[in-house]
Amino acid sequence: MNTMTIAIDGPAAAGKSTVAKKVAEKLSFIYVDTGAMYRALTWKALKQGISLEDEDGLAQLLSQSDLNLVQSDAGQRVILDQRDVSEEIRTAEVTNQVSIVAKHKNVREEMVQRQQELVKDKGVVMDGRDIGTHVLPDAEVKIFMIASVEERAERRHKENLEKGFPSDLKQLKEEIRKRDEIDSNREIAPLVKAEDAIEIDTTSMNIDEVVEGILTIVNEKW
Ligand code: C5P
Repeated sequence: MNTMTIAIDGPAAAGKSTVAKKVAEKLSFIYVDTGAMYRALTWKALKQGISLEDEDGLAQLLSQSDLNLVQSDAGQRVILDQRDVSEEIRTAEVTNQVSIVAKHKNVREEMVQRQQELVKDKGVVMDGRDIGTHVLPDAEVKIFMIASVEERAERRHKENLEKGFPSDLKQLKEEIRKRDEIDSNREIAPLVKAEDAIEIDTTSMNIDEVVEGILTIVNEKW
């Protein structure tokens, strides 16, 4: 085997993207952040005043959107209709509403298809909520990364303060809890651990320890 697919799923702010990026770098694989795609659609819908409950309107908007994830020296950039929206899609406005957009069947179907096309015959680390269960059901390695809500909120809070963003720990905890609840209870492809996924509880682990743990699992399968 000279290439393989690695699926990393888990709840909000569990550190998936940081870890996935590092694992991809170590293996010289591509990294695909599927959450960024749902975020980009949410940002565009908000901008165009399309209701986030309007499934058909959102699906149509997506079908007309040129959405690309581009690897650059500044990390992965999200290019929507030729515009770099990497920063805009991380605002609280988008973060707190993206799960509404991600509930819709017609939106998910097209997203999954696009995600599968992005990685055809490539070594890839992909992170999200339904990667091991729906997007890459045959992934050689499936990881389900969890951490307590308290720890996840603390990490996000620290990250915000480091970036000089306003941050309220209690509010963050509530927002993360709410997003997990919607993602876990939606009808289509809810956040759930794939049967053959390996669960890693990162509550008391640092990033390098998680990366090392995943690389060990990868080496065993290779
Ligand atoms: O990973 P991130 O926190 O950026 O994801 C944002 C949101 O996008 C999630 O809370 C979820 O609602 C949605 N999502 C999803 N399926 C994925 C990736 C993200 O439903 N594969």
